[in-house]
Amino acid sequence: MRSIALANQKGGVGKTTTAVHLAHGLALTGDCTVILDLDPQANATLGVQGMAERNGIETGEDLDADSAFQALQRLDDQLWILPSPGVHRNIDRRTVPDTKKLAALCSQLQDEGVEWLIVDCPPRMDAWGWAGLELCQQVLLPVQAEFFAMHGLSQMIQTLESARRQFPGRAELLGVVATMVDAREEITREVLDDLRSNLGPRMLDSLVYRDLILVEAASHGLTLFDYRIDAKGSLCYGALVREVKHGRA
Ligand SMILES: Nc1ncnc2c1ncn2[C@@H]1O[C@H](COP(=O)(O)OP(=O)(O)OP(=O)(O)O)[C@@H](O)[C@H]1O
Ligand SMILES: [Mg+2]
Repeated sequence: MRSIALANQKGGVGKTTTAVHLAHGLALTGDCTVILDLDPQANATLGVQGMAERNGIETGEDLDADSAFQALQRLDDQLWILPSPGVHRNIDRRTVPDTKKLAALCSQLQDEGVEWLIVDCPPRMDAWGWAGLELCQQVLLPVQAEFFAMHGLSQMIQTLESARRQFPGRAELLGVVATMVDAREEITREVLDDLRSNLGPRMLDSLVYRDLILVEAASHGLTLFDYRIDAKGSLCYGALVREVKHGRA
């Protein structure tokens, strides 16, 4: 099983959107895929709420709030989600995830033949974000193509280095993916050049262009692969899925 955390301590950069599209895209290639929503805001959980119904899958009884992580929900043929406990109750600052239980659950998923675990982390490296780094072999870092992108990114890369020292074999940087790219803006092109020259091969080739249909799809609890397969965002995320699964073209 390959495990990939979507992490960046900066908020609103496209972690959740990338997590659900990467996971759904991998599932559509026929690979058994599980999304783990580690963000108490539960955006990934809410962002796929429409999928089961759209795909004609009966949803089970209500989740037991105390064992939400045990409750795998089926979304599509090869796609499941482990919902965030935050979808049912307010998670206060003192509540921390049970990392031992999560690690046991992940090895159970591996034993069951799950091929991909895609983990959506919160916009903070608190106990929840840190748990994502501890659980995953690799980290995909979405970065919004804007002026201060490189600054926030170097902090996050340092965080990953310390996570790798603490959890050997975990939290390797898979790559950085630029999101919300607007090719018409001169500044965006400068930021992309800057990212490429600073990151070299750690910058993925795939670019996720700005596409407001992504926002619309999320409001229906769907990914673009279900909502509008011919949208620009679908093509971008399709390319990212290929790059993550098969490496650079
Ligand atoms: N490529 C894109 N084009 C247009 N809008 C986008 C794109 N990617 C994400 N968005 C929108 O931007 C907002 C933030 O995206 P998202 O929730 O994926 O970021 P995040 O990093 O997970 O945020 P948070 O840090 O709060 O968890 C959402 O409203 C989402 O629909
Ligand atoms: Mg998010």
